[in-house]
Amino acid sequence: MEVTAWMSLHHAMNAQDRRPLSRATLRRIGRFARPHRRMLAAFLVFSVLMAVLAVATPVLAGRVVDAIVDGSGTGTVVWLAVVIAVLALAEGALGLANRWLSSRLGEGLILQLRTTVFDHVQRMPVAFFTRTRTGALVSRLNNDVIGAQRAFSDTLSGVVSNLVTLLLTFAVMVGISWQITLLALVLLPVFVLPARRMGRKLARLQREAAAHDAAMSTQMTERFSAPGATLVKLFGRPARESAEFAARAGRVRDIGVRAAMVQHVFVTALTVVSALALALVYGLGGFFSLRGQLDAGAVVSLALLLTRLYAPLTALASARVEVMSALVSFERVFEVLDLEPLVAERETAGTVPDGPAAVEFDAVSFAYPSADKVSLASLEEVASLDTRGGVQVLHEVSFRAEPGQMVALVGSSGAGKSTIAQLLPRLYDADEGAVRLGGVDVRDLTFESIRETLGMVTQDGHLFHESIRENLLLARPEATEDDLWDVLRRARLDTLIASLPDGLETIVGERGYRLSGGERQRLTIARLLLNRPRVVILDEATAHLDSTSEAAVQEALGEALEGRTAVVIAHRLSTVRAADLILVIEAGRIVERGTHDDLLALNGRYAELHRTQFDQRPTSETPLEPVG
Ligand SMILES: Nc1ncnc2c1ncn2[C@@H]1O[C@H](COP(=O)(O)OP(=O)(O)O)[C@@H](O)[C@H]1O
Ligand SMILES: [Mg+2]
Repeated sequence: MEVTAWMSLHHAMNAQDRRPLSRATLRRIGRFARPHRRMLAAFLVFSVLMAVLAVATPVLAGRVVDAIVDGSGTGTVVWLAVVIAVLALAEGALGLANRWLSSRLGEGLILQLRTTVFDHVQRMPVAFFTRTRTGALVSRLNNDVIGAQRAFSDTLSGVVSNLVTLLLTFAVMVGISWQITLLALVLLPVFVLPARRMGRKLARLQREAAAHDAAMSTQMTERFSAPGATLVKLFGRPARESAEFAARAGRVRDIGVRAAMVQHVFVTALTVVSALALALVYGLGGFFSLRGQLDAGAVVSLALLLTRLYAPLTALASARVEVMSALVSFERVFEVLDLEPLVAERETAGTVPDGPAAVEFDAVSFAYPSADKVSLASLEEVASLDTRGGVQVLHEVSFRAEPGQMVALVGSSGAGKSTIAQLLPRLYDADEGAVRLGGVDVRDLTFESIRETLGMVTQDGHLFHESIRENLLLARPEATEDDLWDVLRRARLDTLIASLPDGLETIVGERGYRLSGGERQRLTIARLLLNRPRVVILDEATAHLDSTSEAAVQEALGEALEGRTAVVIAHRLSTVRAADLILVIEAGRIVERGTHDDLLALNGRYAELHRTQFDQRPTSETPLEPVG
């Protein structure tokens, strides 16, 4: 892996280490927990009860020993034994109930966080997805949500029950013999101080492992998609990809081994220290007992209690670190939730008026938003985000497509044609000026109304890795079988699909990779037809096709354009000859406008494009420009 990428990863992780956990975060976690407060209360009460039971048994065991030593009769001994048995059963039952409660709490929280993050990410503008690395985002939805749940159910509840157990045990021990208790605890600092350091070390190791896991999942999601894998096969260096992956996976293994060893040293030290303390209790207790200052039963109680004291103590010693590192997961989730979608629906948003709809651009200027407005450094896996504003891509673009008219956009690659198209469905919002649909500013329309009114075929007709039927139904879930075949016929796909062994149930492969370019494009046109939009946008819908495919797609497009308001971006001028209005776009400006004949007569840029396309090779197959 490249050095820079390592360094940026490192930066991102360090930045996270230093950031203090704010009160605001804690308050927010509280808000997340609020719907579960009854369960949480029950959980806490049960934890306290369990701690009481845990202390009661050693005390009763001491009583048994005393009863034996005193010779106070079999009745007492049996009775005490029965109580101990009942307590053991009760402890088991409470433990089950508590486990159920904490699972319900934890899983409920996972559900809540997951659905909230999913809904939020879905509302993010396209700009966010053009920057974010999918793997990093998915990892945040999985690993961090689970980390947050752990903070909530395991660590926080562990702290509560450990604290209660510790205080009760300590109080009872002091009640029996404060001298012995104090002496038994002398060894504590020897143990707790290194324990805290080890806890911190563990947290650091775990965080590093999490970062590597996220990076590996990014690499996998990017490389193991049909286009990604194709690219690696054509240009990539599989050996290097493997080496990079292996290096990361190897580091995760090393961390795993380190973490296991640190943990084991920790547990061993704990066992040794508590065994030493136990020896101290036996020695001192025995001494006091022989001198008649302490009952034999008290010594047994103390010894049993002590074994229950060190575990919560050590857990608490490292709890701060654990809680902190687990809360970091919450922060990482909140960080995503806090990213306001730049393109959002207004509360007052309405719908496009019924009837034929016009499209209007009114002095629209636009620059692609800078990274810090739409994205998170940690999701792009860079140390800091680009704050420079984008270069202005559109300059005061104004035009109008009357209902039923077709407006064509032509011009060199990179002129801004696709950008104009993307402003209509609000994939981005204009910076200045207004884009209107049916006379209403698109920013005052609901997304649903825009989706109903507008149909768009993009340059790379995207399909989901599902069946043809499911891909079509995306546009209109309630469509009938007849509707589907009708649009397939109009998109000139019916015979092909009828001839497939699985027909409509054929899986198209990831991003439609199992269909040819022309078939894929016609399927996206069928999908558009199913939605019956009043306005269609075609962004170089035929750019990638050979002339046979193009003929079929052209026929399909003819159906799509029939009686609709249309904005057509075409690199083949033959397609736009019939347009009511042709706009020539260069460097984000409309440099010429008029009909085909007007523009030829003008003898400007359009005439030039026309000449290069038709004069050199008088077929309609010569592309005007490189695809893009
Ligand atoms: N998502 C994006 N972020 C930043 N700049 C972009 C983005 N998409 C396109 N651009 C830039 O905007 C300009 C216009 O692009 P585009 O509208 O796609 O051109 P056309 O469709 O006419 O070929 C180009 O300079 C391109 O590099
Ligand atoms: Mg384009």
